[in-house]
Amino acid sequence: MKATELFSVRDLSVVVTGGANGLGSAFARAMADNGAQVTLFDLDGEAAAAKANELGRNGGATDWLQLDLTNKAALAAAFATVMKRRGKLDVLFANAGIVAGPGFLNGDWQRAPAGAIENIPLDLWRQVQNVNLKATFSAIQASVPYMKQNGGGRIIVTSSTASLRVSPAVGVAYGVTKAGLNQLVRQLAVELASLNIRVNAILPGPFQTRITTPEMQAAFNRASPVGRAAELHEIEGLALLLASNASNFMTGGLYPIDGGLLLGKVD
Ligand SMILES: NC(=O)c1ccc[n+]([C@@H]2O[C@H](COP(=O)([O-])OP(=O)(O)OC[C@H]3O[C@@H](n4cnc5c(N)ncnc54)[C@H](O)[C@@H]3O)[C@@H](O)[C@H]2O)c1
Repeated sequence: MKATELFSVRDLSVVVTGGANGLGSAFARAMADNGAQVTLFDLDGEAAAAKANELGRNGGATDWLQLDLTNKAALAAAFATVMKRRGKLDVLFANAGIVAGPGFLNGDWQRAPAGAIENIPLDLWRQVQNVNLKATFSAIQASVPYMKQNGGGRIIVTSSTASLRVSPAVGVAYGVTKAGLNQLVRQLAVELASLNIRVNAILPGPFQTRITTPEMQAAFNRASPVGRAAELHEIEGLALLLASNASNFMTGGLYPIDGGLLLGKVD
């Protein structure tokens, strides 16, 4: 089969949460540039409108909806709007996430008081759980009935290498929520397999986005075998694989894209 057919996402109805910026915008670009009908869900309506406009200039039919993903009613309304506009839902990139403040080590590898366990505010813990874990769960929950109705679908969750490896430069709540997402993906992959809904996770290592602080960047560069953070477009191939028929037999997978970060560097 030709690669253009095997990896085709043409005419698929795709929702990308957190699609206005960073990795979400790269997922959206990979889809829109290849003929999918993309809808961006994002808190930042202005950035979402600008991104949809930009993607539309390359011919991709891109729409956007402004909403807070932690609001369950708003999520339900947003998916209903997608169904009204597109008539179906094929793919969900459950991507939006936030960071969790500083990690327990600073740039000089000294213990950082702000990220130390005894000083982390419970409100920060709750906020990170709310966005990264609860809102992702709610988005998946809202999307499943429409995929079921459509005879199947694909759910692609953005986890992180911080779910498998201790990242001392990243606040503890972050890795904990991402580890939770990995188990959600594995559990749902089994539950939804008979409905022809495939569920997989992408585990990005360091990508250059606005959530990458200089401290994180320095720590990543130090730990990474390839010695650099990735550029956004470098995630597009994996996005096309997981959204297309090329991954028909793949479900419950946790796929790192990390320049070897999880393996570690030879000293
Ligand atoms: N950048 C990295 O190196 C990296 C590495 C591993 C995993 N990730 C994960 O990738 C995903 C995207 O991260 P990014 O670096 O692109 O971040 P980003 O901040 O550039 O983009 C995140 C987007 O999500 C939106 N968003 C956040 N909270 C929201 C909410 N409550 N409702 C609606 N929209 C909301 C933001 O407005 C923003 O547009 C996250 O899940 C993050 O944890 C990023």
